[in-house]
Formats: sequence, C-alpha cells, structure tokens
Amino acid sequence: MKGLNKIGGVVKPGGASKSGKSGKAGERSFAPRGGLLELHHVVMRFGGVTAINGLDLTINAGEIFAVIGPNGAGKTTVFNVVTGVYQPTEGGVLFDGRRIDGSKRYQVTKAGIARTFQNIRLFHNMSAVENVMVGADAHHRTGFVSAGLGFPRHRKEEREGRETARRLLDFVGVAHRGDEAAKNLPYGDQRRLEIARALATRPKLLLLDEPAAGMNPAEKEALQGLIRRIRDTGVTVLLIEHDMRLVMGISDRVAVLDFGQKIAEGQPREVQNNPRVIEAYLGAPADAS
Ligand SMILES: Nc1ncnc2c1ncn2[C@@H]1O[C@H](COP(=O)(O)OP(=O)(O)OP(=O)(O)O)[C@@H](O)[C@H]1O
Ligand SMILES: [Mg+2]
Repeated sequence: MKGLNKIGGVVKPGGASKSGKSGKAGERSFAPRGGLLELHHVVMRFGGVTAINGLDLTINAGEIFAVIGPNGAGKTTVFNVVTGVYQPTEGGVLFDGRRIDGSKRYQVTKAGIARTFQNIRLFHNMSAVENVMVGADAHHRTGFVSAGLGFPRHRKEEREGRETARRLLDFVGVAHRGDEAAKNLPYGDQRRLEIARALATRPKLLLLDEPAAGMNPAEKEALQGLIRRIRDTGVTVLLIEHDMRLVMGISDRVAVLDFGQKIAEGQPREVQNNPRVIEAYLGAPADAS
C-alpha cells in the first residue's frame, strides 16, 4: 500500500538532525539493565531548546508505565526518540537489550515498537479496516513477508489481512465501523482505530500518546479496560496521559517529567503525593496548594 510514509511522516527537528553522524562506533556503550525499553542518559536538543535533559528510564516487560508532566515537559519527544524520528543528541536507547537509537522508523517497528500519535494520524478517506491493514503492511514491508510473493499468495495475504484488521477493530471496540471512512468516525473511535492500527504491527511495546484526549468519561473508562486487555495479551504499554484518574487507575509505575528531566518515579500513589510533582503541576511550592 502506498503512502505508508505519511503515517510515520514526522517533521525533522529544527536544528537537530538525524545525520548528526557521531556514529555508534565511537559512542559509549550502555550496559543493559534488564528492561524491555531503556533510556540511558538521553539528551535531545533542538537548537537552543533542550527537550530532554539526561533522562534515564527503564520500562519492564509486562508493565503499564505512564509518563506524565506539564505541557512541553518532553513527553512526546521521548516517543519520537524511541521510535527513531529523532536521533538523541546524547545517550542511548535500548530495546530488548539492543541499541535502537539512530535506527530508522521502520526498523523500530520491525523490532517490535508501535505507537499512536497525540494528534491523530489516519488516512481520512480510507475505511477503518484499510487503515488497520496499512499498519499490518508496515510490518510486512519490513521483512515479515518476503518480497516477490506470487499473486495468489498475495491475495491470500490480503484476505487474511482484512480478517486480522476486523479482529483488531473488534478488540478495540469499533468493529461496527469497519467500512466507514476514518474521517467519519467519532473522535474517540478514531483514537481506538489508531490503537488497532498500531497493534496490527504486532508490537511487543505499544506507545500511546494521550490516548484519552478528547474522550468523554465513559470512553475513558472503556479505554482503561482496553489498555489492560492489551497488556494482558503480553504487550508492554508506555503511556503519556494528562488524565490523572486514568493514569492512577491503570499504571504499574509512573515517571514524571518536567523541563525534560525526571523529577519523580514510582507507584502512582507515591508519585501523586510527591511535593516536587505537585509543584511542577501547580507551578508553585507544594505547601501553597
Ligand atoms: N521538532 C522540534 N523542534 C524544536 N523544538 C521542539 C521540537 N519538538 C519538540 N520541541 C520542544 O521540546 C519541548 C518538549 O516538547 P514535547 O512535545 O516533547 O512536550 P510534551 O511533554 O509532549 O508536551 P504536551 O503535553 O504539550 O504534549 C517543547 O519546548 C517543544 O517546543
Ligand atoms: Mg506531547
């Protein structure tokens, strides 16, 4: 399918560049800590802006891990660094014990990382089913199905792809909208469709960037259940979310970013009561609240 790049097509960083070819050869190596995803002292600068400033993070397999923090804290930039949109200015990213920073986006997908976007990115005029098939195709293109398949086999792939897409739509709760153009789906359903498309790549790790944004309370409740079910299928979930009820309700652990630095990490309750966190959110000393 054409247009695959449009989905992952993210603007290049102003100032920073993927071609900052320091090259891995001369770089430090980072000892794995046993996590599924590990950030080792990651710094991401865009010209004069330091979006991430020396971030260490370990996400364990099987966790639902939330990254929270005020607007501009660097949360989405973490996803962009992990998924190969940006090469970090300093530091390294390990997935399954291997360096992935500097990898291309399709390589990151192939390694087993999928994401959704803060600003929904769907093919608006394509049906929900087709949008999910594009997700699966991203996986195929990167080597899952060998090139040069015969036509009958290709047809079979296509049919199976459709069936899988419908199953995924069912899983996320939008099966009834499979044939509708993505643009006609209500906002909450578009968010779920994005999740289905991400799952179509069969990730080990799913990154969700503000999945509850724009959802009503009932939809948020359903989303909590969906995220749990995703984890229960064996997919690790890294979540960026502003809705504290949702974060506190489903996360095993939470890290809090402020100005690109981790100011707290722990179980939801510990983090919630941390004075630095309260201060970061309220912009005032904790005792002023
Ligand atoms: N491509 C870029 N070029 C220049 N600056 C950038 C770029 N991407 C992010 N930034 C800056 O990096 C900082 C962190 O942005 P980021 O989008 O990661 O924040 P965020 O925590 O996701 O915020 P929000 O909650 O509003 O989504 C901001 O100051 C932002 O303006
Ligand atoms: Mg963001």
